[in-house]
Amino acid sequence: MNTSASAPPLSVVILAAGEGKRMKSRLPKVLQPLAARPLLAHVIAAARALAPARIHIVHGHGGEQVRAVFTDPALNWVHQAEQLGTGHALQQAAPHIADGEVVLVLYGDVPLLRPATLARLVDIAAGGELALLTMRPGDPGGYGRIVRDATGKVARIVEQKDASSEELRIGECNTGVLAAPAGRLKSWLASLCNDNAQREYYLTDVIGLAVRSGVAVTPVQLADPIEALGVNDKIQLAELEAVLRRNAALELMRAGVTVADPLRLDVRGEVMHGQDVSLDVNVILEGRVVLGDRVRIGAGCIVRDSEIGDDTELFPYSVLDGAVVGAEARIGPFSRVRPTTRLADGVHIGNFVEVKNSTLGEESKANHLSYVGDAEVGARVNVGAGTIIANYDGANKHRTHIGAGAHTGSNSVLVAPITVGEGATIAAGSTVTREVPAGKLTIARARQVTLEGWQRPVKPKK
Ligand code: UD1
Ligand code: CA
Repeated sequence: MNTSASAPPLSVVILAAGEGKRMKSRLPKVLQPLAARPLLAHVIAAARALAPARIHIVHGHGGEQVRAVFTDPALNWVHQAEQLGTGHALQQAAPHIADGEVVLVLYGDVPLLRPATLARLVDIAAGGELALLTMRPGDPGGYGRIVRDATGKVARIVEQKDASSEELRIGECNTGVLAAPAGRLKSWLASLCNDNAQREYYLTDVIGLAVRSGVAVTPVQLADPIEALGVNDKIQLAELEAVLRRNAALELMRAGVTVADPLRLDVRGEVMHGQDVSLDVNVILEGRVVLGDRVRIGAGCIVRDSEIGDDTELFPYSVLDGAVVGAEARIGPFSRVRPTTRLADGVHIGNFVEVKNSTLGEESKANHLSYVGDAEVGARVNVGAGTIIANYDGANKHRTHIGAGAHTGSNSVLVAPITVGEGATIAAGSTVTREVPAGKLTIARARQVTLEGWQRPVKPKK
């Protein structure tokens, strides 16, 4: 896109200074999460896909909070101190843009635009025209209307609040997105005035100015207005989430993934997968998720930033976060695997087991009610039911090493730092605080005694 050698440099300007009052939130509107990423991140991603020379972001309300989230030094932040309208917002960015460039204007709260749509606008503007993205929404209420002249050419845009009753009947609406040659656009911006119903400097007035100066205005009408949907409140946010949810599920199914119910799958990120993967209901995949061939994910599982090897199965209600899991492993139901955990091939993690920042070797098992934290566990280790690794002394985390083939008895506590030798067995109920030697049984609990002649106290009779 925008690849031809002669194409002028592209500046994308994202208008994002609005307050977003209707969100009723302390979080600025453009930081509200959609598919687990801020709204503005979606817009920046669409802009980046065009390989622009610069991305300028006009910010105002909650500006510092917004900037802190986007640390890419290539982004040019432009402050709009007072929100005097979309035209005024673009004026703030104008000094940062050279006349020979093409400008594409996007909104921070319109996150679903496809790069292919934007590239069409940029191509038109590179040819010296003003490209305007329009749509025919089911309900045009609130949008600026596209006014055409007697010959059908775009003449100007009239905002809802300034429109006559006749103009309000126009079904073609302004998406707000446009592209234009920078030099011309800057001269039109400089002549905007605010004598309108909202006392604002309207960006939309540049359309009429372009027509008057003899520059062709070329409308590009969206086949599906969904692409240009904006987010003003939590209801619209949920509507867009539903659109993304559906698109992601369709894409996975087209690629061969079995999805139990596309309405009950949430993909909030990027999924790479092999063949014959199946996802049961209410699965959430977040961040970057890699699934091997024949991976099965049970109902209610959440998988975030994790890799899962071939033939591994997650049983219901398990949470994987930042984990790398080998092939033929079995996890859950009700397991929690936390960041920087690596589970080798054939590992079993069972119900109510939490694993954090640990490595488990091939075919090791922790099947019931355990905590494995900050541990290096060898192959074929059996972590007995209720085993707890006490990794934290209140100030520091300590590591535990468990050699291959070791067995920890039920309800044992391993106080870290500690090393358990290969093939060691720890007796049930032990609390071990020192090295556990390889190949032997270690018992660290009080001996069982039975008191002969002991009598249970008896209540005095009245
Ligand atoms: C705008 C268009 C309207 C179009 C609609 C599409 C104008 C005058 N009207 O109306 O024709 O149908 O979008 O959604 O352009 N912003 C700033 N600074 C400001 C004002 C706005 O950065 O001073 C930003 C907002 O954060 C938002 C975008 O510009 O991202 C649009 O502003 P908004 O107030 O929502 O415009 P609308 O009145 O909806
Ligand atoms: Ca709006």
